Amino acid sequence: MEKIKDSKGKQVTWCLMFCVSTAVIGSLQFGYNIGVLNAPDEKVQNFIRNVTQERSGEPMHKSTLTTVWSVTVSIFNVGGMIGSLSVGTLVDKLGRRKCMLLSNILALIGGGLMGLSSMCTSYELIIVGRLVIGAFCGLCTGLTPMYVGEIAPTALRGAFGTLHQLGVVIGILIAQILGLELLLGSQSMWPLLLALTAVPAVLQCVMLIFCPESPRYLLITLNQEEEARQVLTRLRGHSDVEDDIREMKEEALKMSMEKKVSIPELFRNSAYRQPIIIAIILQLSQQLSGINAVMYYSTKIFRYAGITEAVYATIGVGAVNTLFTVISLFLMERAGRRTLHMVGLAGMTVCALLMTISLEILNPIGAKAGSGANMTAIPESVSAGQATSPISVLAILAVFGFVASFEMGPGPIPWFIVAELFSQGPRPAAIAVAGCCNWTASFLVGLFFPKLLELCQAYVFIIFLILLIIFFVFTYFRVPETKGRTFEDIASGFSSAVNYTSPEGAVTMPVSPSSEKFQMTEMTG
Ligand code: GLC
Repeated sequence: MEKIKDSKGKQVTWCLMFCVSTAVIGSLQFGYNIGVLNAPDEKVQNFIRNVTQERSGEPMHKSTLTTVWSVTVSIFNVGGMIGSLSVGTLVDKLGRRKCMLLSNILALIGGGLMGLSSMCTSYELIIVGRLVIGAFCGLCTGLTPMYVGEIAPTALRGAFGTLHQLGVVIGILIAQILGLELLLGSQSMWPLLLALTAVPAVLQCVMLIFCPESPRYLLITLNQEEEARQVLTRLRGHSDVEDDIREMKEEALKMSMEKKVSIPELFRNSAYRQPIIIAIILQLSQQLSGINAVMYYSTKIFRYAGITEAVYATIGVGAVNTLFTVISLFLMERAGRRTLHMVGLAGMTVCALLMTISLEILNPIGAKAGSGANMTAIPESVSAGQATSPISVLAILAVFGFVASFEMGPGPIPWFIVAELFSQGPRPAAIAVAGCCNWTASFLVGLFFPKLLELCQAYVFIIFLILLIIFFVFTYFRVPETKGRTFEDIASGFSSAVNYTSPEGAVTMPVSPSSEKFQMTEMTG
């Protein structure tokens, strides 16, 4: 295994920090738009109800409202699927930097549409705006980890990769705080809350002017060695960048002999099949863990648990979320990705169980059958303003623990590990596939969770609990450690003999993980 021991590799310069911060604004946007509808949900639903009543003269049926609301929340993910799938083609054509720049046009359009919804008395504008902003965020979830992974020194790639998730959780927290009634979550201000996403878009565009293109893209894709060297010198703060250049050249050499890797090729070629399956399952482990059930509906869950000031508990979720992402940032290069992912999944499993037990004690199914209370209605204890019980506190702690465990591994790791599992050739296609799977799973959770909640009540988290155990077992048996290894070394670990096709014909490269140079032998037939 090729470890980076060179202390120079650990150097963090202002230029590197500036570029990473610029890219991470995309992550912040993603987080902001995940969290933005959580706190003012009732206000926006009132708006939808009023608009419908104004138009038809009849009150909107409760189930119709639930459907319209589910669509409003989850169409964001449909946009995300489209955006994430487009990443692969766009980054190779335009480059990472230009792609980030242009994607902001979508943020301006999406934010604008949502901001105008109230003025135009049209909730459809919110739905279309969420679709557009989703496409923008889909691009961000591919672009940010890719750009950050490509400019980070190998020894710090995990910590830097976690910055994407840190941007996401800070974005969620900002949305939750600004969504408070006394700030922008009020009856009149929520359109501004939704439109605010345009501000970071403008900021990122301005900052991007000063950021260089990814040196890996310059050297490997465009074959511009001198430009790549200059960028690396700026990023590393010294001109001794030969190690980086040598590693990229090896990758470029390999790529020049590789066929262009399309999405179907990822599944056909045995060298890519294993890492793409791992990448997909890791994305699923992130989304089907149930995290967004909490992110989208925590206010509702807290109300159900009998908490009077549910909105503040939701902000607590955002704070815990942020704190633990910072902690995992420091642990990532010490404990390793695989261990942290398993620790996180195990913690989430325990907390899912505690959530189920506490919610069931607070609102036993049997009692509900008689009283008519259910998880979609506020329990009487809350409306009567009763003090928070110890079991309610347990429910809050279980939710906090669930989120904290998520951020130890399943939150940050799936986003950046895909870039680590693949070399430059298949990387864009792999990031597109993995991103699309992530968004699809998130879409399904967003769409079906309210219905599942109605059906299963407190037991809804049992479904996630079972899935969490499956993902834990998979990680234990199949996921390799990628900490401290070069992209090349990781990719070669999946196959001892990878087939490549050169213009002259097919060759086989026996790959030894420790070898610096690949030997080539002609393949017969
Ligand atoms: C990850 C997930 C996202 C989730 C967030 C919570 O970034 O991709 O769906 O809402 O973490 O922190």
